[in-house]
Amino acid sequence: MTESRRKILITSALPYANGPIHLGHLVEYIQTDIWARFQRARGHEAIYVCADDAHGTPIMLKARAEGIEPEALIARVRTEHEADFAEFLVGFDHYHSTHSEENRYCATFIYKALKAGGHIAVRTIQQAYDPEAGLFLPDRFIKGTCPKCGATDQYGDSCEACGATYSPMDLQDAISAISGARPVARDSEHYFFQLADFETFLRDWTGSGRLQSAIRNKLNEWFEAGLADWDISRDAPYFGFEIPDAPGKFFYVWLDAPVGYMASFKAYAEKEGLDFDAWWGAGSETEMYHFIGKDIAYFHTLFWPAMLHGAGFRTPTAVFCHGFLTVNGQKMSKSRGTFIRARDFLDHLNPEALRYYFAAKLGAGVDDIDLSLDDFVQRVNSDLVGKVVNIASRCAGFLTKGFDGTLSPRLPRPELHQQFVVAGETIARSYEGREYSQAMRQIMALADQANQYIDEARPWVLAKDPERAEEVQAICTQGLDLFRILIIYLAPVLPRLAAQAGRFLSREDLAWVAREEPLIGGTIRPYEALMTRIEPAAVAALLEASRESLAPTDAGPAGTAATAATPADTAASAARGSGSQADAAASGTSAGARQPVMDPIADTIDYETFARLDLRVARIAAAEYVEGADKLLRLTLDLGGEPRQVFAGIRSAYAPEDLAGRLTVMVANLAPRKMRFGVSEGMVLAAGPGGKDIFLLAPDEGAVPGMRVK
Ligand code: MSP
Ligand code: ZN
Repeated sequence: MTESRRKILITSALPYANGPIHLGHLVEYIQTDIWARFQRARGHEAIYVCADDAHGTPIMLKARAEGIEPEALIARVRTEHEADFAEFLVGFDHYHSTHSEENRYCATFIYKALKAGGHIAVRTIQQAYDPEAGLFLPDRFIKGTCPKCGATDQYGDSCEACGATYSPMDLQDAISAISGARPVARDSEHYFFQLADFETFLRDWTGSGRLQSAIRNKLNEWFEAGLADWDISRDAPYFGFEIPDAPGKFFYVWLDAPVGYMASFKAYAEKEGLDFDAWWGAGSETEMYHFIGKDIAYFHTLFWPAMLHGAGFRTPTAVFCHGFLTVNGQKMSKSRGTFIRARDFLDHLNPEALRYYFAAKLGAGVDDIDLSLDDFVQRVNSDLVGKVVNIASRCAGFLTKGFDGTLSPRLPRPELHQQFVVAGETIARSYEGREYSQAMRQIMALADQANQYIDEARPWVLAKDPERAEEVQAICTQGLDLFRILIIYLAPVLPRLAAQAGRFLSREDLAWVAREEPLIGGTIRPYEALMTRIEPAAVAALLEASRESLAPTDAGPAGTAATAATPADTAASAARGSGSQADAAASGTSAGARQPVMDPIADTIDYETFARLDLRVARIAAAEYVEGADKLLRLTLDLGGEPRQVFAGIRSAYAPEDLAGRLTVMVANLAPRKMRFGVSEGMVLAAGPGGKDIFLLAPDEGAVPGMRVK
């Protein structure tokens, strides 16, 4: 290798520690992992670190809803995340947490340096406060009517109907998604990072080839709009790090999140005896790359480099943004079963199939990428099984049967070997430039060529003639040699398959240079299937399982809200659909005309209608009277995730104090409904004629909030 050995630090964005890894996340982790493996195969020192992003209000509230400490929640989620990543062969050198001593140290260090440099301002601001829950509300935890267009049920920061952005205090009829209370304005002192101090530095930094052109264009818009101060503090109660010399004030989660890259590396460096400053010091000659989704570019291309620069550290060599995953051409949807968790995928399909498919779709740009499931099956079967693995299975049998697995001492077509070796430089350039789809095309073109060689040499015909045995052995040896080169090219994408193939060929070195040495003279082990076809039935089963599992919402804490206060309301709210629920439209379509019938004796429903009901065990976290409503109680339900507010017409039978802490059953997928007293986000199930005789259904002991009721 002529290129000198590079030192490269690589990161992926830190997944939030309040939900499972899903296929959207995996676009990024797979993209990054391929690049890290590629760099190592090329002989470079590539260190790939990541961590869970463990702080912030949603995590605090989720832990609260589960009745556990945030530390327990983030520990559990971290274990799940790490298991998912390992099975998808995402090979971090180190996986850490932002809730760690290293991160506290680094975040505090950076903050103090910025403060000493005069880049931190303190100001009193007014914010929405939930007087019942006793905390300041993040924008996403406030819902109300858009002040511009009047659309109901909008978040506190922006309107999905007209696109307007506004301050949560301007929202009309605002309610807290946590307690249902009306937020009040309250003053509080906040700490601000003065981004504008770094405008000159940032204009230079962002303009010097570190960013994709689409992102650079976006940045120019941001520069035009002016760099505003960034609010980096949050008031207690908050799950995070307390700001030094500011009791009751915590670093906003996004302040210490990117510092998590540094902290993860620090923990790794301490374990491995690496020189931290050589990698993070201002004069560092190492390379550093962040792979992220385009939604978080602002943090990584403005705040983060400014923080690093302001605190005297090196800045990233480049930031690589990718687009978002769609499934079958649409946003991932729970009702269609296309909101697919990593775990569900692993239960049904081979993770390397997904790695290959993503590689076949990924380029260096920020375009969204689509997982078309039919195309996925077809592509994996035809490329990997039909083309690549097929070469090995075609050749291996002749060698094992006729020659005890011994390879020929020479290649009949050395120039073909050479051609495959040379193609490696082009393929390497594609990988280096993150043009994986191009790399996969180049590799598959070689696979076609290898198959064509075997087709034309026809070893199966020659094998009938004992005098031509040596030729058969040579042809099959050549076939396996070409196969091995392809495997080396695919190894960053398919590390497990490559390792298996290495064992089969008794040549386990998968370094890029190792391809140059022809595969001759040794012996191979008996061939075992390296990859099997994907059955469409397995994909169908995966969709079914995903429809069933309670996937997290990506629409924010109240995003899956559903509602109805009384059975009579059900049909209306189901037909109305919901703006905030990503898949509400889909769940409304097939039902369309037919309305669920609630009296089981009077009528029947078909199985599909029944199956669409998402019944869940819920814990009644809080119950209270509703002023001005003589039939209703406001319930705060815990489903093992975000809290739900439900108005239930059960006041005639229950007092609030009878209910708090009890388990019951709720319909979790009713569309949210705005009532006079607030938004109702589901329905609890009860039996009885009414009045005093209403009996809330209660599951037996052992049931846990969030469990599906079947
Ligand atoms: N915790 C922050 C990142 C902090 S980095 C200092 C965060 N977490 S996340 O869990 O929401 O997302 C993690 C990464 O996955 C982000 O880069 C995000 O863009 C990416 N993706 C999440 N959903 C995605 C898709 N549906 N498609 C592609 N990537 C997506 O943001
Ligand atoms: Zn609007």
